[in-house]
Amino acid sequence: MTEHILIAVAWPYANSRLHLGHVAGAYLPADIFARYHRMKGNCVIMVSGSDQHGTPVTIRAEAEGKTPAEVAGSYHQLFLEDFDKLGISWDLFTTTRTDNHEKTAQEIFLKLLDQGYIYKQSVSQPWCDKCKRFLPDRYVEGTCPMCKSTGARGDQCEQCGKPMNPSDLIGAHCRTCDTQPIYKESEHFFLKLSAFERPLLAWVQSQPHWRANVQNFTARYLQEGLHDRAITRDIDWGVPLPLSGYDGKRLYVWFEAVIGYLSASKEWAQKSGNSEAWRHFWDGEARGYYFIGKDNIPFHTIVWPAILLGYGGLNLPYDVPANEFLTIESQKFSKSRNLAVWVSDYFERYQADPLRYLLSANMPETSDTDFSWREFVRRNNDELVSTYGNLVQRVLTFTYTRFDGAVPEHGEIDAVSHALLDKAQNTFDVVDKLISGCHFKEAIRVAMALAQESNRYLDEKAPWKVIKDDRQAAATSLYVAIAVITALKTILYPFIPFSSEKVHAYLGLSSRIEDDGWKLTMPQPGGKLNPPQVLFTKLDESVVEEETLRMGFSPI
Ligand code: MF3
Ligand code: ZN
Repeated sequence: MTEHILIAVAWPYANSRLHLGHVAGAYLPADIFARYHRMKGNCVIMVSGSDQHGTPVTIRAEAEGKTPAEVAGSYHQLFLEDFDKLGISWDLFTTTRTDNHEKTAQEIFLKLLDQGYIYKQSVSQPWCDKCKRFLPDRYVEGTCPMCKSTGARGDQCEQCGKPMNPSDLIGAHCRTCDTQPIYKESEHFFLKLSAFERPLLAWVQSQPHWRANVQNFTARYLQEGLHDRAITRDIDWGVPLPLSGYDGKRLYVWFEAVIGYLSASKEWAQKSGNSEAWRHFWDGEARGYYFIGKDNIPFHTIVWPAILLGYGGLNLPYDVPANEFLTIESQKFSKSRNLAVWVSDYFERYQADPLRYLLSANMPETSDTDFSWREFVRRNNDELVSTYGNLVQRVLTFTYTRFDGAVPEHGEIDAVSHALLDKAQNTFDVVDKLISGCHFKEAIRVAMALAQESNRYLDEKAPWKVIKDDRQAAATSLYVAIAVITALKTILYPFIPFSSEKVHAYLGLSSRIEDDGWKLTMPQPGGKLNPPQVLFTKLDESVVEEETLRMGFSPI
């Protein structure tokens, strides 16, 4: 049966370029999942967009001397370029500044207000008497009451992930001028999260398929008790309130950004020519998977589900496979210290698949993992070039030149060959379960083990030698190897799509690779091949030193 799979991916703030942490944290796993499901013949929409509102963007705009709209607009374009090079196969990557999003967010706001899940209350807000304005959360800094790290912001502590109100901070001060804020009354709208504490706890506890870290974090959070949270701010950049008399206020960026998943689905439907098509992804048996980094967990397992429960009639997330962090050369990402690999820089010198491969094999699924240039070079050279690339190269080049550029006719298939074909079938089954359960790191390891096994098979069968005395035996083992390469390009397609497309073409197949499906297909004897080209390029060891120096510190 065809399944409907919504792949909802974190909306990057349009205030900075993408770095490898974003890719490993959310975009690559989402893309692997999307490509896999499309290949399975399921209906998929993978949606996201740039998160253009809120103080992350206004702070950046102030720093660059531009308007928030200019800043957000230009980063949005840069995101599109980076995603294109990475091969992130969006069905829609939109923005939070569309009329559709504004309308959707306002409609949800009004419905929740009507149902009593949003209420008005006067609160005292931090006010900077020097700057003469209310300070948005991110403009207040101080010490985190939970983990005691300094430099925590009034919206969330970056160290321990605790979402916060500015008044929770110890030693709070204005980030612009350092003044200690005073508090003034201001009227705001609150989301009644407390009303959802029990239903959410019951829901979370009945999700055995969630990753343990996501489930435990969420359950603990709920057990501590949910507090209602203000969802409006005294700023002029954001989605306006759908009520008169609140001109100086906007919807809080987190409240409206998560609604983006729904508004993007609607925009996709609109563009696909059936404006109601989004519903198939939001009701009944449809499943929604939310690919995010671990710092975003509470917004996706508590806030967004609460909004959905209050609104009614739409599916809650089926899974929230949040990833941990990717460290760079064993250190935490830091923009100011140049400890980051920017996607755009990477593509000045390298191709997409070696990066996609490394980040898949090293994905921070259950704990933080590290990106290092040494590991990048090693995995490229030992695994892509020597294992998989070499397998494809030697089989297809030899077959092409010695068997008239066509798939050879095979003779009787012996036990060793059967064993390899069985392993190929088994790899399909195992990887199928792994990817559908969002275990990407293990999935690619299992896939590469099939390539290793195929190389051992060829070493044993040595068709290049055997051909002198027994052309039929050589033909048979090459046929079997071509069958396994056909399987591998399919199994590896979600991870390294660019190379799989190439192998697909070398194999002489003119179909769209996704249309051939997620299954073992035996090659047609006599089928025309295309001349194989180099699949992966070996990287010189000097890359390690060059790249680590470029980042501003010496290689270990
Ligand atoms: N912009 C946020 C961040 O980069 C993520 C928003 S995800 C969304 O951390 F669901 F709220 F859109
Ligand atoms: Zn100030």
